[in-house]
Amino acid sequence: MLSSHLIPRSRYEQAAIAVYSGSLDASRAVAAEIATLIRQRQAEQKPVVLGLATGSTPVSVYAELVRLHREEGLSFANVTTFNLDEYYPLAPEHAQSYRAFMRRHLFDHIDIDPKRTHLPSGTVAKAEVDAHCAAYEAAIRAAGGIDFQLLGIGRTGHIGFNEPGSPRHSLTRLVTLDPLTRRDAAGDFGGNDATPRHALTMGVRSILDARRVVLMAWGQHKAEIVRTAIEGEVNSQVSASFLQEHPAALFVLDTAAADALTRNRTPWLIGALEEQGLTWDNRMIRRAILWLSQLRGKPILKLTDDDYNEAGLQDLIHLHGSAYETNLIGFYELQHTITGWPGGRDPKKSKPGDAPVRPLRGTGASVFPKRILILSPHPDDDVIAMGGTLCRLVDQGHEVHIAYGVSGASAVSDEAVWRLLAFVRDSGLADSAQSTHLTSLTSQLSHGATLTQTPELLRWKALVRRHEATAAARVCGVPETRLHFLNLPFYNAAPRSRAYGPTDVSLVGNLLAQLQPHLIYAAGDLNDPHGTHRLCLRILRDAFALAATARAPWLAAAELWLYRGAWNDWPVDEIDLAVPLSPREVLRRRRAIFRHETQKDQALFLGEDRREFWQRTEDRSRRLAEAYNTLGLAEYEAIEAFKRYAPEDFLRSAAF
Ligand code: F6R
Repeated sequence: MLSSHLIPRSRYEQAAIAVYSGSLDASRAVAAEIATLIRQRQAEQKPVVLGLATGSTPVSVYAELVRLHREEGLSFANVTTFNLDEYYPLAPEHAQSYRAFMRRHLFDHIDIDPKRTHLPSGTVAKAEVDAHCAAYEAAIRAAGGIDFQLLGIGRTGHIGFNEPGSPRHSLTRLVTLDPLTRRDAAGDFGGNDATPRHALTMGVRSILDARRVVLMAWGQHKAEIVRTAIEGEVNSQVSASFLQEHPAALFVLDTAAADALTRNRTPWLIGALEEQGLTWDNRMIRRAILWLSQLRGKPILKLTDDDYNEAGLQDLIHLHGSAYETNLIGFYELQHTITGWPGGRDPKKSKPGDAPVRPLRGTGASVFPKRILILSPHPDDDVIAMGGTLCRLVDQGHEVHIAYGVSGASAVSDEAVWRLLAFVRDSGLADSAQSTHLTSLTSQLSHGATLTQTPELLRWKALVRRHEATAAARVCGVPETRLHFLNLPFYNAAPRSRAYGPTDVSLVGNLLAQLQPHLIYAAGDLNDPHGTHRLCLRILRDAFALAATARAPWLAAAELWLYRGAWNDWPVDEIDLAVPLSPREVLRRRRAIFRHETQKDQALFLGEDRREFWQRTEDRSRRLAEAYNTLGLAEYEAIEAFKRYAPEDFLRSAAF
């Protein structure tokens, strides 16, 4: 199965890759290869040794293996496993230990002999660590070596926990985790301070010694590091790049993780587009022109025939006659993304000669005013990502609803709750029984104790965020009656074990059916650290699928726009709608973001980037305005950008 998705290698790619439209199909194919190997060995009455990984990436492979065991009789009786790594120090009983992870996702659901499952021990005494690691290597050798090694890739390029600097000859050992890796894990441990600083990991050499190695990567947040690992030089700064030297290594990617490969980002560098099954449509032309404009440091309309020729874009000139003609195509494509009326114009107020409102296309485009639904995964993504557009839509007379996906409770500090509890305690609003409870809680908090995150405390934290969101929406003119707090239940699990289910989908589906929106805005920022945005988008896709099956009439008329959040914006070549903001609108958006007070002290989510959310938003939208300006378009204070998803493409899309 994996072989059917192998891509013929371009000269940029130094390793074999298989690309799937979605991570589920890819995971099934990987599980199928593992199952085939297990069955082959069973037929030969031989054991098989698997090297296993943890983290979010292999979860669906394990789910498929469990399904194969339950439904198709796949037995693991002849299987021995060695996991890549374990946090150190950490007890195996700790919910976040990799031992616990493996039990939860695989071992407890199959017929494997627990004695044949190996992980480095997170509890071995410091003085024993070296001996323990040597014994782990010896155990792998004694089992006959690893037949099949499963890998994920960290954003530092690590395989196992072989962080930048890990040499080719490294074996199982104690390592210090990279700050980025710790930040990615911090959500699972409830904060950076509680996240282990060290781990025991198999080394690069221990991994490369496996007879077959499959590295999987899903999602856009892995795209850059995947490109470096596949197209970059082999070097110890990116331990995954060593796989280039393995004769039977395969990178299995979904389309989002493959997105930054040269074949996808700048396919004209690989060869003629037609030979790659691609065409020079206006979108591709725009992308090439923007790339060229950046390469030559010139605005679009100043690009010359020489610029095109020297950059290998002769094909484009041949197609359109001259640089002048080609430039115009790219220029107009980009200019037509700009509109100050993101929801269309009031026909009663339009005058002859008004600029057309181009980006709107759906059959509902002419409806005015529109019912608009903004889906905000966390309670602040709406204003952070599109606060200016949100205010515009309200001011221009549309009926704007905002639905908040998750409660956001885990991003509220105990301190923020303490202030509110102390206020209630001292206000005289609580009766005496509640007061005793409040006094005990506030005194625990003021003594700096870390409180257990009981459902009660989490409910209060959720309330805090709800009221912040309500206050921010008020700045934008959206009344409380048009706010929908969905409290999607998938959020209740630990961050990297989250999976959504039918309840999440029906909560979103019911809201869509109730509102029948003409325009829907959703977060397409798939780079958020813990994947909440990605899950929310999948939930929306499934809710759309239900509406499509039920032939809901509103769906045909609806348009879907994706925004990106605080981390980064759409690349200019992917933007379909650009809403310019005035200096005053930028300030109003800032005021709305300010309402999310608790988010100011959550260093955890800010990571190394010390800018607050309002600063990131302003920098991001100013940078985008500057990019439009540099390309030769008008100069605006700031721009918020959106990408169109036709509902039918959205339903087909497995890119997230
Ligand atoms: C896990 C491991 C790590 C992860 C990597 C990606 O055992 O060794 O290398 O594979 O950090 O993590 P996720 O899959 O959570 O993105």
